[in-house]
Amino acid sequence: MQINLASRLKLLPPYLFAELDRLKREVQQKGVDVISLGIGDPDLPTPPHIVAALQRTAGDPVNHRYPDYQGLDRFREAAARWYKRRFGVTLDPAREACALIGSKEGIANFPVAVVDPGDIVLIPSPGYPVYYSGCVFNGGEAYFMPLRKENGFIPDLGAIPAEVARRAKLMWLNYPNNPTAATAEPEFFRRAIKFCLDHNIILAHDIAYSEIAFDGYRAPSMLEFEGARDCVIEFHSLSKTYSMTGWRVGFAVGNAKLVGGLGTVKTNIDSGVFQAVQEAAIAALDGSDDKLREYCAVYQRRRDLMVDALRALGLECEVPRATFYLWAQVPRGYTSVSFTERVLKETGVVITPGSGFGSSGEGYVRFSLTVPSERLQEAVARIKAAKIICGAVAFR
Ligand SMILES: Cc1ncc(COP(=O)(O)O)c(C=O)c1O
Repeated sequence: MQINLASRLKLLPPYLFAELDRLKREVQQKGVDVISLGIGDPDLPTPPHIVAALQRTAGDPVNHRYPDYQGLDRFREAAARWYKRRFGVTLDPAREACALIGSKEGIANFPVAVVDPGDIVLIPSPGYPVYYSGCVFNGGEAYFMPLRKENGFIPDLGAIPAEVARRAKLMWLNYPNNPTAATAEPEFFRRAIKFCLDHNIILAHDIAYSEIAFDGYRAPSMLEFEGARDCVIEFHSLSKTYSMTGWRVGFAVGNAKLVGGLGTVKTNIDSGVFQAVQEAAIAALDGSDDKLREYCAVYQRRRDLMVDALRALGLECEVPRATFYLWAQVPRGYTSVSFTERVLKETGVVITPGSGFGSSGEGYVRFSLTVPSERLQEAVARIKAAKIICGAVAFR
């Protein structure tokens, strides 16, 4: 028996993180206390009122059966209420909202509904890797929109060739952004919507980090802007907002035909979100935001501490007003990977090479702020002691 996996798997880029995982295990086996600033997985617990809602509902047999494919009506109504409260956007929960088993699931499945073989998908680089896998798994052709520092990590829509825009079917955007931690101004959202309407392109906005914001910043929804209802679907997650990464719950909202298309795909692939988890999600969406505010204050303190510490080390990075990431330039003489590997080998600190998010991420590394301040301080102290970065001339 010879097992041949489908050729689409070969379309994925080499798994850069596999080598780093191996290296991390090697370092751990030597007994080093590894500090992981690699993944964006909140260390702060899910707020108690959300856990209590799961506990209350998990034992009810009504919740032990197959859930509704597109989510409980009450869950979709709660999502719509939240959009109204948070963004002033009115949604029809029956037609314009769909529950997701985490937003990653929706982001991966959405292209099944809209991308035909040969269609171009416009993808930010660096970007969340699932935009690319969803594209190529469905026969799409990726066109990468570089996010450059000089443009505030916003794609230059004017640089997209006319022929690419003509063949493009779908554009992904993600603000607040992972991995660059950049935010976008309303003017950019307006331009992006106009661009997509002019070229008949579906605009998918990933808004997973909208609530992790600092200094009074309030990230907008793409649906706040004129014309959005004609071309936009927005993917929202409870993972980061309520520290619920393990629970797997999110939702998609926006244009009814796009949401409906995603629903059709899901009906044929999965069987929805465990209803007790939806009950907990309703408690989260309808409940108090006190914990969210408290957690953002924690991330903000970590951000300030870490930006100062990295700058003191000679690493250039901006002060983000959202997300729990720092996007720092690697010192001269290193690539993203060589710097990451050296930091890991010599200090036991795990960071993420920017090139793992696409070629335009080269020259950067991402630090995640999802560990306590003492661990951040310890990580920086180790990098300093290892003398990996040589003085102020280290900037590229
Ligand atoms: C930009 C972005 N979008 C979506 C997700 C998926 O989150 P979830 O599937 O937990 O909702 C992540 C997770 O890290 C992310 O960084």
